[in-house]
Amino acid sequence: MWPGRVWLDPGGPAAYIPGMNRQSPTLDSPLPVRVALATQPLGILASARAARRNVVELIPEIATHAPMLSGTTGKRWHMLMSPEALRHVLRDRVEDYPKSMVTKLILGSAISKSLFVLDGAEWRWQRRAAAPVFGHRNIAAMAPIMVGAAERSALRIGQAADTGGQRAFDAFDEMVAATFEVIADVTLSGGAGFDRHKVHQAIEAYIAQTARVSLLDVVGAPAWVPRPGRLFSAGPMRAVQQLADDIIADRRRQGALPVPDLLDLLIAGEDPQTGRRMTPDELRDNLLTFIVAGHETTALTLSWALYLMAFAPEIQDAAAEEARALQDRPATMADLPGLPLIRRIVDEALRLYPPAAFLARTAQVQDRILGREIRPGDTVILPIYALHRHKKLWDDPDAFDPDRFRRPPERFAYLPFGDGPRICIGAAFALQEAVLILATLLARFRFAAVPGRDPKPVMILTLRPQGGVWLTATRRRGGKIP
Ligand code: HEM
Repeated sequence: MWPGRVWLDPGGPAAYIPGMNRQSPTLDSPLPVRVALATQPLGILASARAARRNVVELIPEIATHAPMLSGTTGKRWHMLMSPEALRHVLRDRVEDYPKSMVTKLILGSAISKSLFVLDGAEWRWQRRAAAPVFGHRNIAAMAPIMVGAAERSALRIGQAADTGGQRAFDAFDEMVAATFEVIADVTLSGGAGFDRHKVHQAIEAYIAQTARVSLLDVVGAPAWVPRPGRLFSAGPMRAVQQLADDIIADRRRQGALPVPDLLDLLIAGEDPQTGRRMTPDELRDNLLTFIVAGHETTALTLSWALYLMAFAPEIQDAAAEEARALQDRPATMADLPGLPLIRRIVDEALRLYPPAAFLARTAQVQDRILGREIRPGDTVILPIYALHRHKKLWDDPDAFDPDRFRRPPERFAYLPFGDGPRICIGAAFALQEAVLILATLLARFRFAAVPGRDPKPVMILTLRPQGGVWLTATRRRGGKIP
């Protein structure tokens, strides 16, 4: 996507934003794994090849210095790294910058009626109807389910630990299993006869085959041009949709559970302004969105956090000390305020490896951003990965330093969940789950990396650790390694 024609504007918004121009101290310590960003312009074919390999490789290295880049690769595009410009697109002019065509192409066939892909009035009423589902009290009530999944994960990791650290395990696989249990329990609990494993596999197959940005997407071909990968995966996804339909119909017949789960809350949800409720199709697409958006992203956050813990053993030990009370008992909501370092580790993992590393919008109207002309149809890219490693926004951007979050980051410089009216509806749910699971695991085990098996960050819909996060675990007793 770094094109035949790039026009940078180094002299443009020269002042950038006052106070952002911090000097980076040089650190001698090694850096955790990162993506080698493009240092040379890529043509259309090279862009398409890079996009199939790893979308993040399309981000030019200069995006970590500049406030904005623009160019054409089949279509006109702009990359925004200035918090001021991001605020404009995500908050102030959200109606003029709906979700991009690419987003709709990738997700549209599976969840076309969900609030994740809808725009305008259709999105607005669904968001109003769904917002209370993720209210503080409802999420807090789901903590025991999260802790239960953390405990079962600790049991599985314990089996690897009991080999005396001889048996390595893939923390990404393990975290996907744990977070899938959570999301299945809070969306599909009580669903008779559904096979968790089957649902999980179908969703994985859909992501693996469809999410790769194809050449057709890069050159901006219209949605009706068939994409081979997507047709291929239509089968498994249809099976999951059928299953979700059955589960919703069952639940409607049986009525809500004693402690309502996400599905009950969604079924009961209505737009407070119009009283409108979701149709079965809308319920299904939103349910599937919660399942897809809600488990893999959190699993990634946890896997990258565990990778970072093995990378920085002293920080891991400090975090384990913080979580010490949880060695012999399950975590509860009341423990959360006592885990500030673990929360900062989660925040820093989300900065270095934002699962949604790349967001996109399509401009609807003529506009100007940082003095540059935006035309209707232009693609506006929000490269969160580059924003989080921007040299003018962060000290030592590539270094792992959870303490940087002792102070809140500058608004619109840190966007793991997006911002503005379309900010992730599940952010509080995900953060609570990540802190509870990480604290449970760190209290019980000391994790170490398997030499020579560092993961590679690769974006396939989300920023994944290619090759897995291979770790060994040893049990902690009384805060000490036995
Ligand atoms: C660490 C975990 C998560 C991350 C990093 C994440 C990230 C994001 C981001 C960046 C967006 C905004 C996309 C955009 O503006 O284009 C988003 C939206 C959304 N997320 Fe999450 N998410 C996470 C967890 C969850 C969970 C747990 C759920 C639900 C159970 C969820 C459901 C949604 C939905 C429905 C939207 C669309 C909101 C709207 O457009 O109104 N996410 N997420």
